[in-house]
Amino acid sequence: MNLAECKRFTMNTIEFTKTYYIDRRGSHSRKWDGEHLKFSRTDLLPLWVADMDFMPPQCIQEAICSYVKANPLGYTMTNPDYIEAVMSWYKRRHNCSLKQEWLTSAPNVITGIMWCIGAFTKTNDAIAVLSPVYGAFDTSASDAQRQIIAVPMNRTEDNRYSVDYDAFERAISEHDVKLFIHCNPHNPVGHVWTEQEMDRLFRICQRHHVLIISDEIHQDLITGPTAFTSALTVSNGAYADNIIAMSSLSKSFNMASLHHAEVIIPNEQLRSQFNAYKAHVYHTDSDVIAETAITAAYTHPEAEAWLTDVLAVIRENYEYLCRELCTALPQIRISPMDGTYLAWIDFGAYVKAENMHDLFENKCRIAPSFGEWFGGKNYTTFVRLNLATSLENIRTATHNIIKYVHP
Ligand SMILES: Cc1ncc(COP(=O)(O)O)c(C=O)c1O
Repeated sequence: MNLAECKRFTMNTIEFTKTYYIDRRGSHSRKWDGEHLKFSRTDLLPLWVADMDFMPPQCIQEAICSYVKANPLGYTMTNPDYIEAVMSWYKRRHNCSLKQEWLTSAPNVITGIMWCIGAFTKTNDAIAVLSPVYGAFDTSASDAQRQIIAVPMNRTEDNRYSVDYDAFERAISEHDVKLFIHCNPHNPVGHVWTEQEMDRLFRICQRHHVLIISDEIHQDLITGPTAFTSALTVSNGAYADNIIAMSSLSKSFNMASLHHAEVIIPNEQLRSQFNAYKAHVYHTDSDVIAETAITAAYTHPEAEAWLTDVLAVIRENYEYLCRELCTALPQIRISPMDGTYLAWIDFGAYVKAENMHDLFENKCRIAPSFGEWFGGKNYTTFVRLNLATSLENIRTATHNIIKYVHP
């Protein structure tokens, strides 16, 4: 398919895959070429690192190329078009009105979280997360000699996760928690938090003077029925003064190696504190390539069509995986993936924890993200599978799982 022909129109999943899927082996991709970093062999189908196996929209590629062809990569100042693009994206996609002065930045979301930990907490302070959760939250806290307080979520009969609000409040008050790192949509369980759920969580945080970081990096990857609500807009912005929201285009448009994340801080004092900390540890002007990419992604209709299409591929992959696995292995527990492109699957009915690595690496020949990476021993029978790839890869993975996991 000629890309120019389909710029403004959505494609079906087969056309999209044909056009954008790319064989990434040999490109120094961490996911495809870095299996030796985490696994015992390097001939695995990689479904671990959370990026996509699709080229980004052509309008972003062109915007970067045009800038580089026309300009030296000298020092730059933040381009007002980039700020405008971010503000219009939040308004248009998430009904969230940002003020220009709220925006600051970090080289990526995790660095932004590390800076918040440095700016707003002290050694040994307690930081709460809802468990299971993305492992870098834990390491960001422990590397800075803070205590991580993991509050386990409840899992319902239908494999959906929910908060035990009493346990959350008890943990906060017992450990004198200073910071709560919220993740919406939630990696790895795929839950998209409703406004009501966040209202209850944030009210508890407010009662105990706990600052909230809302990691919203998966905000555009919604494939289920619940719409994304930014923490900034919960209860008409009632908690915005106590929230630091973070996002970037890295997940939505597959550009994680561009180092730029939006850090949104409505409260002026918190923002000054964050920026003072940042000035102490980091010195740079704006990243012009990232700003160029973001401006293109957030303003071109083609990019929005691309996003619609990639979500359809992800949904199709998820439905295929669920259908096949649940038919062959009826006691498997797959959590509803309403957001992200990450499927969270519990093999506990069929596989002993101590056999999971051997099964996936030596038999199924898949490189998953293993459950324990998201909160330790409670999750050793789980894997997280990255579905942002071709249906063919998901078919291969599904087939191999069914072949080697015996009911
Ligand atoms: C919830 C969440 N936050 C942050 C990150 C990493 O983001 P960054 O590369 O911007 O640090 C990921 C990557 O998987 C993620 O899932």
